[in-house]
Amino acid sequence: MKRLALISLGLALGLTAPISQAQEYVIKFSHVVAATAPKGRAADLFAAKVNEKLKGKVRVEVYPNSQLYNDDKVMEAMRLSSSKTTGILAAPSLSKFVKLSSNLQAFDIPFLFDNMDDVHKLVDSPLVEKMTKPMESKGVKALTFWDNGMKVFSVKGDKPLRAVPDDFKGKKFRIQSSDVHEAMIRAMGGTPQKLPFKEVYTALGQGVVDGQENTWSNIYSKKFHEVQDYISVSNHGYLGYLLVVSSDFWNGLPEDIRNELTAILKEVTVEGRKFAAEADHEDRVAVEKAGFAKVVELTSAERKQWKAANASLEKQFASEIGEDLLKDIHKLLGN
Ligand code: LMR
Repeated sequence: MKRLALISLGLALGLTAPISQAQEYVIKFSHVVAATAPKGRAADLFAAKVNEKLKGKVRVEVYPNSQLYNDDKVMEAMRLSSSKTTGILAAPSLSKFVKLSSNLQAFDIPFLFDNMDDVHKLVDSPLVEKMTKPMESKGVKALTFWDNGMKVFSVKGDKPLRAVPDDFKGKKFRIQSSDVHEAMIRAMGGTPQKLPFKEVYTALGQGVVDGQENTWSNIYSKKFHEVQDYISVSNHGYLGYLLVVSSDFWNGLPEDIRNELTAILKEVTVEGRKFAAEADHEDRVAVEKAGFAKVVELTSAERKQWKAANASLEKQFASEIGEDLLKDIHKLLGN
């Protein structure tokens, strides 16, 4: 009653502006990893900065560990959301975007990047704008790229994954929802199974799958190493993220708020790279120290074998990714 009376008084006095200025926008940041993983830390830092700098204007709530949505559901929710006041923000891994932009599958090509410097060359180049453009017509706005790291392979059994295809034969591997990953596991002789991140630990523990590929921080924070016998340091591919938000929400924000959020995201992206680099080293050490899974390095001959097994994948996906885009990426990386 009181609020109604105040609003009527405001209207009568022509004071509509102060009422609309009191609008607080809410951003629900949904992600699937632990709060201690690089993405979790970056999400919390983003929330802390926004909640301090834009207090009363924007409030960020972070939902880790697939509490709110898993990655496939969050994209759907984002696309369907038309709210101008509550926005859904997420940072799914680049391997989960095929429905929104098939160009982004380039990030999944095994052995495309030698290391994180190569990855940064690409994500800091104008080529990524081409790669995210197809999303614009699908209600999703791409904001920035966040790091995780290079992936390694883990497996349960009596020997590590070294020889291709022999050590992959007869084994089932959990993969993200990526067709390139599916083709990669087949090329190496194994059987792929797409599963949401939330189900991986149980699937490994119960023997639904024998192995998986992921970064050190995801393996350590979700305890995958506790239910695996070996980890092969393959660094065969990259796992990173694209921060996305519903376009209706983003485009409807007042320009000054959008600019503030963009500036904060830029700062957090820089910090996030540091979180990822730290975790990549520290979580590997922690996995080795824990003593559950034994960590093995591949010899250069084995690495060559893994590369050779995957050599035809790029061609297989070239028309979906874009022949010209792939050429430009190779030119940029000098490989
Ligand atoms: C996975 O599904 O393995 C990863 O995409 C999880 C993540 O967000 O790092």
